[in-house]
Amino acid sequence: MGTYTIVVLPGDGIGPEVTEQAVRVLHEIGERYGHTFQSHQALVGVSAIEAEGQAISDATMQLCQKSDAILFGAIGGIPRYEGSSSQERPERALLRLRKELELFANLRPIRPFKALLNASSIKQEVLQGTDLLVVRELTGGLYFGKPSEIRETPQGLEAVDTLLYTEREIDRIVRVAFELARGRRKKITSVDKANVLSSSRLWRHIAERVASEYPDVTIDHLLVDTCAMQLVRNPTGFDVIVTENMFGDILTDEAAMLTGSMGMLPSASLGTRRTAHGLFGLYEPIHGSAPDIAGQGKANPIAAILTVAMLLRHSFGLEQEATTIEAAVERVIEAGYRTEDLKEAGKEVIGTQEMGKLIVDAMAA
Ligand code: IPM
Ligand code: MG
Repeated sequence: MGTYTIVVLPGDGIGPEVTEQAVRVLHEIGERYGHTFQSHQALVGVSAIEAEGQAISDATMQLCQKSDAILFGAIGGIPRYEGSSSQERPERALLRLRKELELFANLRPIRPFKALLNASSIKQEVLQGTDLLVVRELTGGLYFGKPSEIRETPQGLEAVDTLLYTEREIDRIVRVAFELARGRRKKITSVDKANVLSSSRLWRHIAERVASEYPDVTIDHLLVDTCAMQLVRNPTGFDVIVTENMFGDILTDEAAMLTGSMGMLPSASLGTRRTAHGLFGLYEPIHGSAPDIAGQGKANPIAAILTVAMLLRHSFGLEQEATTIEAAVERVIEAGYRTEDLKEAGKEVIGTQEMGKLIVDAMAA
């Protein structure tokens, strides 16, 4: 039993609808197990720009800093903010949170549910047994390197982004991957583009150096293009993948589709700061804000709900509570209920709220 402070940042598009179901599950767990989850809601993204002039205000940043964990919905993807001008962009909220809270390790587990093997566009026999974890570096590389700008020259416009990694940044993320691999099948694939990029050659060098401290874990190096191919050719060949920020962004959208829908995958962003309860972290579904279906009540809340399970496990050490949520999700899927994104012949299509309710009910079973 304990009291935990959680900042809830629903964000844009379908963010608020799916987060509402996630919070519902969180409070159900609180009641069932006797924990007090104090949740504070704040604005990020488009709603924050419109109400507070910034994608995330300093006050919200402070609220986050003082909390035990953050539950994040989705952000961005709103066409009127997609221009090339320097106006505030909603995505900046997420990037600021990651950078200022030093959440450098992004964990994205990919394990398709058995009952959903059919929902993927990849053949069942290829998918069967897939259980991989992508450890994505989250506070370096192209996302944060300076300069990053579009500028005028006498010959016309030009643009630059900077891919910078320090030895320290690579070392600490690779170490996270090795530690996690020890609790799994002890196999690491470090993904880079060392045949072209200097940053990747440093990455490979540091990865090898860290590997020498973990003789019980095997390491392979794979070029990112080959990795993209192997993920659909032989996904069961992977255990832990560790890679830099942009490669991780791209590969995890691809890997997500192994589970049938982007609407199924949670993620955790961790650093080294500890709270009274464990490791501080930010938790978010991998999917985006899906503005095309926002407000229609048909978004899949499962990724957001599984995100709560990750939060309880990694930030509060509440393993049994996390497993209760995951088992409830599995039960509902096995019973044949599907949201629109997972539509299959013979299965019942239900909405966001109904899915949330069924999962809450299944937790009692
Ligand atoms: C993700 C998202 C973000 C990213 C966007 C919304 C900035 O795609 O978390 O994968 O690129 O990191
Ligand atoms: Mg992404």
